[in-house]
Formats: sequence, C-alpha cells, structure tokens
Amino acid sequence: MALCLWLIVVVPVCSWGQRPEDTADSGVFQPQSALTDMEFASVSTYRGPGNTDPRPNNKLPILLWWSSNLFPHFPGDTERVDCAHSSCLVTSNRKVQLYRRTASIIFYGTDFRAYEAPLPRLSHQTWALFHEESPMNNYLLSHSVGIRLFNYTATFRRESDYPLTLQWLPSLDYLLKPMAVPLQEKNRWRQAGLAPVLYMQSHCDVPSDRDRYVQELMKYIE
Ligand SMILES: *[C@@H]1O[C@H](CO)[C@@H](O)[C@H](O)[C@H]1NC(C)=O
Repeated sequence: MALCLWLIVVVPVCSWGQRPEDTADSGVFQPQSALTDMEFASVSTYRGPGNTDPRPNNKLPILLWWSSNLFPHFPGDTERVDCAHSSCLVTSNRKVQLYRRTASIIFYGTDFRAYEAPLPRLSHQTWALFHEESPMNNYLLSHSVGIRLFNYTATFRRESDYPLTLQWLPSLDYLLKPMAVPLQEKNRWRQAGLAPVLYMQSHCDVPSDRDRYVQELMKYIE
C-alpha cells in the first residue's frame, strides 16, 4: 500500500493582502483623480525579466483588483508591473472602474459577492477570478452559472486557465528529494505497531465528503 499524505495549508489572506484600514486615512489626502495619481512618475515598478515595453504609465492598460482585502502589489494602491512581454498598471482604486483603459477586473473568490459586483459589465472589460481557498468559502463559484461569469480563472481546479494546484510547492526538488526516513526504519516501526499511513486535512465535514472516503479507505489498510 502506497503511503498517501495530503497536506493542505491554509494561509489567511490578511497575512499577504492589504487591509483596507491601512489605507483609509491616507486616502483622504489623495488627489481627486485616480488617473492623475497613477501617472505620477513615482509609481513604483516591478521590473520583470526581458521587458522592453516602451509605453509610459498613461498609455498602459489597467488591471483593477476589486476585492478590497487583497492587493498583492502593496504597499501602495497602484503600481506599474513589467512582465516578460508587456507592462500594465495594477491598482485597487475603484475610481478607475469605468475607464476605457481598465482592461480587466480581478476578484478574490472568497470575497466575491454578486451584490457588489461592478455592474453593468462594460463590453471591453474582462473579469478574472483568483480563487485559491476552500470551495466551501463561496458556493456560488462551484456552480457553472457562477464560475462562467469570469473570462479567466486561477483556481485549485486543474481545468482553470491558471491552475493553482501546486502554488505552495516550493520546488519540484521538494517532492523528489530522498525520503526522510529509510524503509528499514519504517518497517521496524510497523513491527512495533505504528500505522502505515498518515492522513492530514485542514478541516472536517467538507462537502466533497472526503472524511467518509478516508474511513472507507482505512478498511483496506492493515
Ligand atoms: C467575458 O465573459 C462574459 C460573460 O461570460 C462574456 O459576455 C464576454 O463576451 C466575455 N468577454 C471576452 C472578451 O471574452
């Protein structure tokens, strides 16, 4: 019987997103026009490898992060991002919602609420979903009418546009490096009465009913 170990790591969003209260006070002093704000030369920049996009900030497409608890390009609320093939401005400033240049709106799955979605949808804008937490957090997204609202998805599903199945895996090496405990030692522990399989999960009673599956599996493991 193969050793099966599922280890599910749940990282609270607040540890790497930006909480709205961090920005609430400083927002009072921002210029009225978000666009002016974003075209300041001081917008900080992530320089990706090999990027040669010559466009100035005021010509770049804008990606709007809609979910207020999540803006991975902190500490500011706006940043120029240079990827390998082109550049864009990313922002969490909702004032840009109706801009022509705002090409896509990104939603965080756990926080997505239909009643606060930016409606009506503009025909030139796409919606993108970033959903890396438990499906239990938002049942709407487990139904095709819900998930089909999004033109691009990055989820735990292998079939999504940018699957996040292995996102917390540090490297391939991590999976392939030699087992920590030699087989002889494990066999000794088996003879001493220890179980052959360890199963770990982050919570119980999930809708996939995996608890019952594991209970059934236990019948076949000596
Ligand atoms: C994005 O998805 C919506 C809803 O399914 C659809 O109406 C729209 O045509 C799509 N836009 C693009 C550019 O694919």
